[in-house]
Amino acid sequence: MTRVDDTGPLWPPSSRPRAVDVLGVGQNALDRIGRVERHPRKGEKQMLLDSRDRPGGQVATAVLACARLGLRCTYVGRIGDDDAGRAALAPLRAAGVDLSGVRRISGVPSQTAMILVDRNDGDRTILWHRAPELQLDRADLRRDTIEAARALLLDAGDPEAGAWAAGVARAAGVPVILDADHYAPDLDELLRGIDFPLVSRGFADSFSENGSIPETLQRLVRGGARLAAVTLGDRGFVALTGDRWIEEPAVAVAVRDTTGAGDAFHGGFAWGLLQGFGARQTLRAANAVAALNCRAEGAQGGLPARREVEEVLALR
Ligand SMILES: Nc1ncnc2c1ncn2[C@@H]1O[C@H](COP(=O)(O)OP(=O)(O)OP(=O)(O)O)[C@@H](O)[C@H]1O
Ligand SMILES: [Mg+2]
Repeated sequence: MTRVDDTGPLWPPSSRPRAVDVLGVGQNALDRIGRVERHPRKGEKQMLLDSRDRPGGQVATAVLACARLGLRCTYVGRIGDDDAGRAALAPLRAAGVDLSGVRRISGVPSQTAMILVDRNDGDRTILWHRAPELQLDRADLRRDTIEAARALLLDAGDPEAGAWAAGVARAAGVPVILDADHYAPDLDELLRGIDFPLVSRGFADSFSENGSIPETLQRLVRGGARLAAVTLGDRGFVALTGDRWIEEPAVAVAVRDTTGAGDAFHGGFAWGLLQGFGARQTLRAANAVAALNCRAEGAQGGLPARREVEEVLALR
């Protein structure tokens, strides 16, 4: 791989043997993806070019990215008792992810989303629905499952359960990665327990005075993050670790659908971290996995094999 300016691993490998590489706790969904010539205006009638159901969800997609890269993964989340939930988990099951901690809630619909994708640049608009009964609570989580993992991946959909899980992970020396699209004060406790908050532009908009990315990153690092990053879609990412700024443009690919790019970024980051990469190389792995995932339709359509990521890392 090409030389990078990292001095050592972003997260030193633990001496304790662990049964699982990545534990993901959070959302899964079945996305209905419709492609359009361009995003509609309010009140407009427009033809869909095509429309298909595709599995997605932030943590489920990130975990699948890790499994495709060869990591041993466990996923914990809730589904309803319906076909949508079964379809949302099918790729994880096929990839050998441990789903024994998934809880099925009867009488509740599984999480779904309606997504419009612009056929020209792959930009997406997401409308999602999650029944309140799908929110995880502590009883869904087991301390020993968290302690058995080498890394914990969370999203912001279950702030209370997530904060508890992050606390258990921290006490056991397990690094915690968070995906958050928006900030609200009910995330404060969760944020305090996160080593690697990797947030989107929308989070920065609501977290800092004027949507300032530097301020967002500085606040997260001052709050205890080992490294914080804001993802910027086709403009790549900006990150801060200690007082070191790291930024890279997005990896150029033939983009078909950017749905799930952020989710894949988190999976790629977890993979890089567990390879023992330094800060920049870990972020580059995330950037590569995210871009490669944009090559095909659906949140999980383009998730790469390890060899494909290594090719991108060697080239740049
Ligand atoms: N058009 C693109 N080309 C290449 N890479 C992209 C593109 N769009 C996104 N990415 C990659 O995906 C990462 C995350 O994208 P983005 O910031 O849009 O995430 P997000 O807002 O969380 O969206 P989502 O979670 O719905 O995918 C970017 O930092 C970049 O690495
Ligand atoms: Mg996202």
